Formats: sequence, structure tokens, C-alpha cells
Amino acid sequence: MKQYIYASSAETARALILHLINLISEEPRKIFNIAFSGGSTPALMFDLWANEYSVVTPWDRIRIWWVDERCVRPENSDSNYGMMRMLLLDIVPIPESNIFRIEGESNPEEEAVRYSGLAKKYMQQQSSGMPAFDIVLLGAGNDGHTSSIFQGQEHLLISPNVYEVSCNPHNAQKRIALTGQSIINAGRVIFFIMGKDKADVVAEICMSGDTCPAAYVAHHANKVELFLDEAAAVKLQDK
Ligand code: 6PG
Repeated sequence: MKQYIYASSAETARALILHLINLISEEPRKIFNIAFSGGSTPALMFDLWANEYSVVTPWDRIRIWWVDERCVRPENSDSNYGMMRMLLLDIVPIPESNIFRIEGESNPEEEAVRYSGLAKKYMQQQSSGMPAFDIVLLGAGNDGHTSSIFQGQEHLLISPNVYEVSCNPHNAQKRIALTGQSIINAGRVIFFIMGKDKADVVAEICMSGDTCPAAYVAHHANKVELFLDEAAAVKLQDK
């Protein structure tokens, strides 16, 4: 796992945006299927991307997918789609046909099946039958979850389905979550984690066994990179 550590959250976000742009630019004939996580961490990245790097981004070659979504309507403040739409997608010239929203307002079980089928339709499938996302961008909760795979729901790490319904144990909110095997099958997994309250989960990802969902996918995925600010990485630097 390659670690990229920066002093501030803005520097970390900018470095990640440029890394993504470089990866896409290195293969000028390829369309990239990228799955984005939600939560609060990506907000700064989306804002900076829209306002500082839009003109150097080949938006026509990026398909936007979601790692997970809360089972709420798009206009709900919890919506991962709603946040990305407001901060990035409504501002940059990305074709609407490149945006593949999880319908949080739909029946969760039906939507997990629908969205799994959509991913399989648009992406080459591995021998496992899993679609191969080019890049999966993950956050991590300080409880060790990633995507919306929480402690106690580890069956989602080995599910043969692309997306499944999960439940946030902190508020019983249903979610649609990219499963562990789908994440592990991605060409590249990038964790984007910032803040001192994430120092323990970052240490767990980098220095433990498969002790939480975030550590599990980090240890089993093909190519894993971590973009961290110094606050989140503080327990790594002590070693
Ligand atoms: C979500 C995310 C989730 C997130 C972590 C970190 O829908 O909440 O996909 O996996 O990445 O919970 O969230 P923060 O960035 O808010 O700390």
C-alpha cells in the first residue's frame, strides 16, 4: 500500500485530484469507470475539482459511479449523490450520460439488484462475474467501516453480489453498498482519509490484520493507495 501524506486537507485533496487526472490522461483512449464514496471527506475534493481543475479534466472519458448511497431521496442532505451533484456535477461539463446515480429513493433490495446489473452492463466482468471498476475511491469511518460495510455485516465482504443492502448501525438507515469482492476486483483502490479522528483506523488499515472492513479490503485489493493528511497519518509516523 503506497501512502501519500500531506500537511493539510486541501493539499491532500489537490494531490488526489491531480493523481486521478494523471491516471486518466495516461490512457487517452480509455473510458474510466470510477466509483466515488460519499460522507463528508470528499466534499473538499469535489469543491476544489470543480473550481480549480475542471478545465484540465477529460470529463467525457469519466463515468461516475457511487460506492454507496444512503436510502434517501437525492434532495435529502444525507444523499451522497446530492452532495456530489451540488459541489461538482452541476458545475463541470460532464455528460449526463456519464453519471450513474444510485436511486436512493427506490426500494433498497430492488435498487441493489438494478444497480448491480447496470455496473455489469457497462463494465468488463472479471472471471468472478464481478465488474471491474477502474478506480474505487474509499473513505473509512472511525469505526472501521468502508463503503457502507459496517462491523457485524462482514458477510458483505464476501458476497457474490456487486451491490447489497446494508444498514448503518448508528442510525438504522438503510444503504446500498458496493461489496468487498467488487472493491477488491477494482483495478485500483484509493483511500482518501483525513483528520485526527481517523488516526486509529488508518493505523489499523496499515498495521493490523483483517480487523475491520476497511483493513480487509485494503489487504486484499489489487493496487491500494492511501491519500492522507498528516493528522490522519499521525500514528504511522510514530512507528
Ligand atoms: C458514506 C461513505 C462512507 C464514508 C465513511 C467516512 O456514505 O458515508 O461512503 O463509507 O466514506 O463513513 O465518512 P466521512 O468522510 O464523513 O468521515
